[in-house]
Amino acid sequence: VNHYKGRLAETLLERYQNATARLYCPPLMKLPKAGQYMQLVSPHDELQAVPVSAFASGAAEQADGGGFLLPILADLPERWQPGDELSIRGPLGRGFELPKRAKRVALAALAGNPGRLLPLASAALAQGCEVALCTDAAVASLPAAVELRGLADLPAVIAWGDFLAFDIKIEELEGLEEKLGMRSPLPRALEAQALVVSPMPCGGMAKCGVCAVPAHKGERLLCEDGPVVELREMFPS
Ligand code: FES
Repeated sequence: VNHYKGRLAETLLERYQNATARLYCPPLMKLPKAGQYMQLVSPHDELQAVPVSAFASGAAEQADGGGFLLPILADLPERWQPGDELSIRGPLGRGFELPKRAKRVALAALAGNPGRLLPLASAALAQGCEVALCTDAAVASLPAAVELRGLADLPAVIAWGDFLAFDIKIEELEGLEEKLGMRSPLPRALEAQALVVSPMPCGGMAKCGVCAVPAHKGERLLCEDGPVVELREMFPS
């Protein structure tokens, strides 16, 4: 894992951009894949108790001076201002792994803002897949090839797809079947990956256990074994 010196380049209206901010990433930085995360620390913010987890929520653009501007979705402290220097740790964790044979990719934003899924939508299009995204939130600048649907259509979209990827808040995992519009248990054949959105204060450095979720064999730490997990590992049925 690497550390980089970055900068908060710009804050955005999250609702309209599917991103909280644009992060300046230095030239040689390895950028996170869809579903991976970074930890952000402001070296001059004495009030910051734990690092902030940030996800890429769009494509990186070339910045002046050779670096990149990366749209991110993150709970940034309001006192952080554009121009603030940030130390970036990452990319961390396991992201989405799009199966090579996937042809019809169903995406579902169950955690609110669909931003965390947008890099996967682009990756799936690049792999030649058809892509449908179910969300009830506002979506900005979605590639025209992605079919946009409401969450009410999710069962039909899941039936259409051969691969499902979604994000969900950790506290809502228990009601997952219902959220997916399915009767429990989830069908065995469903190939699906979930990005579980959880506080990850130590990011694997201290094994604090805050991000632990029950799994097939014992427990998983989302910060290390996730935050993207195979649905089957969590709900063996
Ligand atoms: S965040 Fe501490 S163990 Fe995962």
